[in-house]
Order: sequence, then structure tokens, then C-alpha cells
Amino acid sequence: MSKSLRVWFLAPEVAPFAKTGGLADVAGSLPGALMKLGVDVRVALPMYRMVREGNFAMHEVFPGLEVPLGDETLQCDVLETTTDHGVPVYLFDREDLFDRPDLYGTPEGDYSDNLERFTFFTRAALLLAKKTGFHFDVVHCHDWQTGLAPAYLKTLYRDDPFFSQAGSVFTIHNMGYQGLFPAEKLSTCGLPASEFHPEGLEYWGNISLLKAGLVYADAITTVSPRYSQEIQTPEFGMGMDAILRNRSDDLHGIINGVDYHTWNPATDPHLPAHYSVRHMDGKKACKAALAHEMGVDHQFLARPLLAVISRLTVQKGHDLLLEIVPDVARLDVGLVILGAGEQKYQQALGFLGQEHPERLAIRVGFDEPLAHRIMAGADMLLAPSRYEPCGLTQIYALKYGTVPIVRAVGGFDDTIQQFDPSSGQGTGFKFLEHEPGAVLDRIKEAIQTYYNKAAWQKLVKNGMRADFSWSESAREYVALYEEVRQRRENSHTGFAQDRVSSRYERGVR
Ligand code: ADP
Ligand code: GLC
Repeated sequence: MSKSLRVWFLAPEVAPFAKTGGLADVAGSLPGALMKLGVDVRVALPMYRMVREGNFAMHEVFPGLEVPLGDETLQCDVLETTTDHGVPVYLFDREDLFDRPDLYGTPEGDYSDNLERFTFFTRAALLLAKKTGFHFDVVHCHDWQTGLAPAYLKTLYRDDPFFSQAGSVFTIHNMGYQGLFPAEKLSTCGLPASEFHPEGLEYWGNISLLKAGLVYADAITTVSPRYSQEIQTPEFGMGMDAILRNRSDDLHGIINGVDYHTWNPATDPHLPAHYSVRHMDGKKACKAALAHEMGVDHQFLARPLLAVISRLTVQKGHDLLLEIVPDVARLDVGLVILGAGEQKYQQALGFLGQEHPERLAIRVGFDEPLAHRIMAGADMLLAPSRYEPCGLTQIYALKYGTVPIVRAVGGFDDTIQQFDPSSGQGTGFKFLEHEPGAVLDRIKEAIQTYYNKAAWQKLVKNGMRADFSWSESAREYVALYEEVRQRRENSHTGFAQDRVSSRYERGVR
């Protein structure tokens, strides 16, 4: 790397401070891997209630930061803490916006002022950089909540000398969340009406913050190569495939890494016993403890124990899961499900649990330590997602010797190889069709393999030996940041056009 890169990393959730899903895991661990590669990376996160109550060491660094929001100027205080890897994290503290029980909404729906909340956060982050003289080369934005940052750099702050070198990378963790708001709220964002058109942030008459990220960022990434292809098709593009096809030269699929300090069965502080690929006894102890904790009958200790750990949303295939649970219950296996999310799934799962209490255990809620104990105690992890940008649970499962059964989409397809008993190759089971027969067939195949001791051991060990640490993917991000920086430097010296405005065709939604 030539001159050290400076990256301002804007994330709506960062583990261990605030988490609803895998984005938090990525934002909590990728910056540490970037720092190891010499990047001066700093992370921005709203000061949610769960951060405040989390007992993290923090101190105030900037009181009374003034941030325009619509017609008003609001203030917030900025505090600093660090990630587990020593990366600075700046927390934007504004109680009326962020001191709430959840991050984005309740099981009944989203908070009605999410546009105000995340516009404020994004703008505050850019302004803090300016106030404190953090001359970042790249703002790296994650999902719709931060999609306005690239738009601000290309519009409001275009002629501000402080931001003249600042490029942007926008990472799509999930096309399913598009940050849609009514057009009348444009003034809240502080963007001129001239940006409200199909080549800007208008999406069928609404404002879309996801689209803002996709249109204005210098480069776009998503979290697996397969998903980067899929989202350019109508089937997975969620209405934005044309936009992505238009920007395909600037769209990169970089597979997520995982943090093996946090997710390692040999050291995991949440587990009742430890184990590794050479000493597997601890896994049996974890299974027994889990069955006891969840109330699964002890007769199932000699049988496969399946697990589901996921947000309760349509994405994760809970409709399909609800359909197949009665059949799974007939297969003489145990099943534990941990999930938080939409009310309708919470209720439906609750009913099913009551029907088969001896073999089916459901926990509704977000419980990080329990997620680790299930990962260790189960034999198989079932993930019948409709789509999956990357997926982290299947990667954690591999390390914990828990065999994934996944749908062959997105990152699932990139990270799991179908097991072939004749060659002994492969790390899990994959099905393609999103329908009950397809998933049940794979579950049956997994159960059969489970009773073939030698084959099962081989399969488990293949998974435990797989390596999805960050080093390779972090290098890919650094190369991309360098490219963006170079492109911006060239644009100042007149070698390149601003690619976003020149490449965008009229009429593309
Ligand atoms: P997504 O980001 O789409 O939710 P990922 O597989 O990338 O899916 O990441 C999910 C993360 O959230 C994992 O760390 C998983 O362990 C965690 N998780 C999901 N649901 C729960 C829950 N109910 N309690 C605790 N952790 C959960
Ligand atoms: C999203 C995706 C998931 C991905 C995670 C982290 O929430 O649904 O597939 O692993 O982000 O990138």
C-alpha cells in the first residue's frame, strides 16, 4: 500500500455493541482485519439504548455536534469506544432518535421516523469527520441506513474542499431492505429536488436510501460473488436489478469473513465444554447440556439434533420451515429453533412447539450466548432461505462441527459444498428448489449420513478445517479502496470522468 488509506466505516449495527444480524458481525470484525493491513479505519455507529446499557468503556470526544436535519439543526454528543480488535468506534448520541428498545423497529413494524434517524446519523458522521479533520479517502457504507453518504458527497458536499478527495464504497448486505420513504420527505434528507428522479434516489415515486447508495457510490460491493450475480437478475434484484446491471463494472462480490476469536468451539466462553477437530468429546457434552437446557428429551441424544438460528423473516424461509416441521418431527430427530422477528412467525412457531414438546424446542428472542450453545450442541444447522446474500451461521456451523443443510443460493452456494460420500469431499447438504420435498430429501440424506459414522466424521472434519477468516477478503476491500482513491485522484487531475453521472442512463429505475 502506498500512502496509508483512511476509511470512515459507517454501519447501522456493530457487534458486540448492537446487533440484529450478520451485518453487525461483519462491521465488528472487518475493521480489525483492515487495521492489520495498515488501514486507518474508524467506525461510526448510532448510540442505541443497547450500546448505552452494554457496559462498554467509552468517553466523550465531541460534545454538541451540530447537524442539519430538514429545517432544523439538531445537536448530538459523540463518544468513543473501541472494537474487540482495538478499532475506534464513534457513537452518535441523540436520545430522542436512538434511545429505544430496538434498533429499527418492533415486531409490529419499523419505527416511523427511520428516515430522520438514519439521515441524522449519516450526516452527523460526515460532519464529525470534517470537524475533527479526519480526511478519509473512502467512506464505506453498509445497507440503506447509510446510503445517503455517497449521495451527499456527490451533491451537497461536492464543492466542499474538505471532501474533495473522499470516495465512497457502498456494501449491499441485503437487497430486501430498501429504505423506502415518501417523496414528501425529501427535504428531511437536505438534498435538492433536482436529485429526485429515476437516475437519482427516486424509486417509483418514493425515496429509496438503498438506491441512493447504489447510484451515487463510486463502487458497490455485496457479500458473496454468487449474490453479486443474482441481484442483477429480476428473480433476486428486488426491482433494482436494472440499476445493478447498469453498474455491473462497479459491482464486486466479496465473500464475508468471520471472526474466529468470537466463533471458536475451542475457546468460546459461552460453551459448557470445549472441543476442536482433534478432540471432539466436548461436542457431546455441549449436545447433552443443550438438550437439557432446551427441554429436548434425552432419548434424542443418540439421534440427530437439528437447529435453526435466524431472524424470523420471509427471507430465512420460515414459511417453508413451518410447512415441514410436522414432517421433520416424524423423522425421529430433535429440533431447536432460536429466532426473533416478525410476530406471525413467533406465534406460529410457539404453537408448533406445544405440539411436540419432547423433540421440538423453540426460543423466541435474541440471545447471543444461546446462539453459541446451539451452534455447538446441534448436529445439523438447517437454513432454508429464499435468498441469502452471504450467511454467517452456516460458516460458524462448519467451525462448530455442525453440518449445514442450506438452499443453494447466494453465499450459501459459495461457502458450502455438497457432501459426496464416495469421495469423502464436501461440507454440507444443499437443495435448490424452495419447496418442502426438496428440503425434506436433503434432511433425510443428512440423517442417513449421520448414522454412517465414518462418513459423518469425515464430513464434520471437512467443515471444521475450512477457513473463512477475513485475511483474503480484507485484502480485496483494500484493493477496492485503493482503486476508488486512485479514481478520485485521477478525476481531480482530469484523467477520468465522474463515472456515476456519465454512465447512468435515463429511464433506469
Ligand atoms: P442475517 O444477517 O441475514 O440475519 P447471517 O447468517 O449473516 O444472517 O447472520 C446472523 C447472525 O445473527 C449470526 O451471528 C447469528 O448467530 C445471529 N442470530 C440470528 N438470530 C439470532 C437470535 N435470535 N439470537 C441470537 N443470535 C442470532
Ligand atoms: C445480511 C444478509 C446475510 C449476510 C449479512 C452480513 O443481513 O442477510 O446473508 O451474511 O448481511 O453481510
